[in-house]
Formats: sequence, C-alpha cells, structure tokens
Amino acid sequence: SKLEMFVDELPDMPKIQGFRMLNTSPKPKSLMIGMFKKKWKFHRDLPPTPVFAYGASRRGATVPGPTIEALQGIDTYVTWKNFLPSKHILPWDPTIPTAIPATKTGIPTVVHLHGGMHEPANDGNANSWFTAGFKEKGPDWSKRTYHYNNNQQPGSLWYHDHAMGLTRVNLLAGLIGAYVIRHPEVEGPLELPHGEEFDRPLIVFDRSFRKDGSIYMNSTGNNPSIHPQWQPEYFGDLIIVNGKAWPKMTVRRRKYRLRIINASNARFFRLFFTNGLEFIHVASDSTYLVEPVVTNETLLAPSEIADVVVDFSKSKTDAAVLANDAPYPYPSGDPVNELNGRVMKFTIKKEREVDTWRVPDKLIQYPSPDLSSATQTRYIAMYEYTSDTDEPTHLYINGKPYEAPATETPKAGTSEIWNVINLTEDNHPMHIHLAVFTVLDQTELVKAEEFKACMSKMNDAIKCQISKHARGKKLRVAAHEKGWKNVYKMTPGYVTRILVRFSYIHSNTSYSFDPTGMPGYVYHCHVSNYIAFPFMFGGYIFKYKT
Ligand code: C2O
Repeated sequence: SKLEMFVDELPDMPKIQGFRMLNTSPKPKSLMIGMFKKKWKFHRDLPPTPVFAYGASRRGATVPGPTIEALQGIDTYVTWKNFLPSKHILPWDPTIPTAIPATKTGIPTVVHLHGGMHEPANDGNANSWFTAGFKEKGPDWSKRTYHYNNNQQPGSLWYHDHAMGLTRVNLLAGLIGAYVIRHPEVEGPLELPHGEEFDRPLIVFDRSFRKDGSIYMNSTGNNPSIHPQWQPEYFGDLIIVNGKAWPKMTVRRRKYRLRIINASNARFFRLFFTNGLEFIHVASDSTYLVEPVVTNETLLAPSEIADVVVDFSKSKTDAAVLANDAPYPYPSGDPVNELNGRVMKFTIKKEREVDTWRVPDKLIQYPSPDLSSATQTRYIAMYEYTSDTDEPTHLYINGKPYEAPATETPKAGTSEIWNVINLTEDNHPMHIHLAVFTVLDQTELVKAEEFKACMSKMNDAIKCQISKHARGKKLRVAAHEKGWKNVYKMTPGYVTRILVRFSYIHSNTSYSFDPTGMPGYVYHCHVSNYIAFPFMFGGYIFKYKT
C-alpha cells in the first residue's frame, strides 16, 4: 500500500532563542540541548519510527531538532547532552575508522555547527565525541559546553552530528537541526519576509522505511567480506520536509522566505515548482548575496542551502508542487521516480493581499573576493585509489588519509586560491569548516587519464603538469552561486578554482583564537557517508597559524 502524498501539514520546528533579553538589550544565553531516542511520526499512515532527536527535553525533541535563533555578536552557549541508549537503532560498521567506546556500549555523538566560525574546541571535531553522561569520550574531547560567539555575518546555518564513522547513521537517525544568525540592524532595512509565519527553514531529506515504520537502510556493504555494512551512499524514496513525508502547506498570496537546507546523506535535489513559480535567491549557504537572483530551478547538493523568497501572489494556479528532478547519484545515476521526484505541496489562498514585504534591488555588499590578496595557491586532488588487498576503492585527498598530519596551514586574515581537482566519477560537494569561499571557475581536464595516472604515482599536481591539463571547457558558475559559500559541487573531471577567505567577511577583523588550539578544522565531501570517514575521503585537519 502506497502512502498518500500531501496529507500531513508542514511542521514548524520548535524555536529556541540563543540569547536572552535584559530590559531591552540582548545578553548571552546558555542552553541545554539533549539527544534522545524516541518515536516520530513521519506520515499519517506510517507507524511511529524510532529516531534520535534533538530537543530541550525528551518530550519536546523533534526531527529535525529545534531551530536555534541566535543574534549576531551575542554569545550562545550550548551544552549538548547525549541521552541515547547503549545500542544504535541503525546498523553501523566497526570495520571502518569509527568512534568505538572502550566498553562497547553507548552511542558516540558530537555536534558540528555547519557554517559556524568558532574555535576548534567548539567545532565538533569527529574525534571529540562522547557517549551518554559523558561516560566515554573521544581522544580530542575537551569540553561539555560549546561556545558560539556568533560574530559572523547573519545567515542560515545548521547543526548536525559529526562523530567519526557514525555521522551517516546518526544523521539518518535524525540528528540534524537549523540554526539562524540574525542581525536586525543590517537585515531589518531590507524588509524581506520575516517573522514566524513568513520566514521558514525547510529541512529536506530522503528516507526509506519498513512496514513497521522503522528506518530502512541497506545493511549489506558493497564489499561485505571486508566491510560487512558500509555503503558509500544512502538513498531513500520518501522525501521528508521538516519531519513529514511530502507535507502540504497553505500559504497566503504574498512573499515567503524559505531557507531550504538539503540534509540528505547523498541525494542532490534539483528543485522547481510545477506551476512555474520562481525562486528569488537572497543568500546562498550562510551568506547574503549582493543582489537577488531569480531562477526557475535550484540544484542543491547535500548540505547546500538555498535561501530564497517565493512570491505566491504571482501564482496562476491555486496549488504548486515543489518537485525534484536530480538523478541519483548525481549526475549520472537513476532518474527520479514518482516518489522521490516530489517534495511538498503549497496550496495558495485565493484572496489577494497587500504585501508589506519586498525584495530590494540591493541586499548586503560584503567586500568582494580580491584575487590579488591571495597569499597561497593549493592543489587539492580527490581521487579513487585501488589496492589489491583492501577495499576496492578509497577516496583520498592528495593520496593521504585523515590521520596524516595537517596539510593546509593557512594564516588567519588571509585568502587563498584552492584548485580542487575531482578525478572521481561523482560530483562531490566539498565543505570547508571555518572558511567561506567564492567559486571562480570550473575547467575541464584534458587528457584526464594521463593526469590521473601521473597523480597515482606522484601525488603532485604541479609535477603532473596540471596547467597543461586544466585547459578544457569552462562551466558557467550560476549567478546565484557566485557569492560566498561554504559548500560547492565539485564537478567530476573538472578543476574547480575557489578563493577561500580565512576571516570574517562583514568586517576586516579576523577570528581570534588560540593558534595552537587543536584539534583544528577539516574540509571534506559532504556526502555524509564520507564525513569523518578518513580512509575513504577524509578532510584534513588544518591547523591555524596566526
Ligand atoms: Cu556539515 Cu564537517 O560538516
């Protein structure tokens, strides 16, 4: 029996303020957010599903978790507490590098605020994990309470688990949530749609379920004699938005701001409205654009965020389905089917309204990327490496595993040019912790096989004459993706050149923190089966130099 689409109302996740008001001035606030095992209804006709959920209490815990609303420049302290049971609800694979407690009981978790610019001890390093009651801790664990100073530009972030080897199953189980940084003095004058009703995070992901309601995950590995359970990717057939499968929402004939977060493990979404409604992009990932950009569709890799205004008064119909047509895996996998090609439905009220919100011609102007200020050029090659004794395929960066010493050691306050060379078959959404970057260009590799062969021996893009190979077709960077981002799609067979900035973009100050502070930061592909999965596709810890 198939589940009917568009029967559940789109939920709004509970909101938690990351600051408190004293008279009329905002002050820092300390929060406790727990991780609980509970049951969650993903659909009217689906039995309740065991999940892991974030919340201020077990009762209030939700999937996704509460939306944390922080204020620019006001500290938010969060004590993330693990109340999870001793056993996972999903199969995990101890044969890959994984957080495994010495007593073999308890579920390792650690929280990363994606898009956040904070000291390394607050960054949710994969080895800073802890189990229930902080009974057991990873080798890089240092504190219970994370400090988010929110000193960065306003925008949309999200928090999610980041534990070594378990990220993929902890995310699948439900450990994700939205985090918004607001800056009223700067954003107020824009008069974009705001307030509870008109400004909404939409956290989108795919899942499959068994008849009894439990999450289904193929638990036979690609190469079971070595890794009994690990699979490089996960795809589900039901599309979930804010915790409900294919929900519906009734909207007024006016503008809404939708912060669409792709929280899937591996699925790309190419979103469009079936009635031709447009997306007016006002920000990408965590940063405002200089001016709005209008598109008919938007392609989101895992963890990319489209921050858009949709003007429902322009709708010629009284219903619009938000749909998806991205093949999976992207770009050359299966076409979508009648299930995963649908996301949610909007019913548009008939009455015309006076709309007080607008989309100004100019949004927020940050200093534009300055190529001449780049102090370093780096080459970062992603490629698959086959050994005859081990797994069929490792995905490595520059041929090195996660355990290798830090490879990039940028200086605070500088910018660098990174050439990311994707020698794999798949598009990899690369995310850099701490930094923001702009995409300069994407150039196809000519004689890629020759280059690959050289790289597998020498591991050195310059010696392998990258400049001779980076000469092919250029891809256009879409206008709405030309701003500052924290994740971008690295096209297979191409060199993607990015300008990475290691300081705040809204001011000329750079971060201040202990330069010796370990465990440092990572960059990695955000297909979450790879996150914190060093042998396959590690990020590299880069230590900071000041
Ligand atoms: Cu969104 Cu290292 O992660």
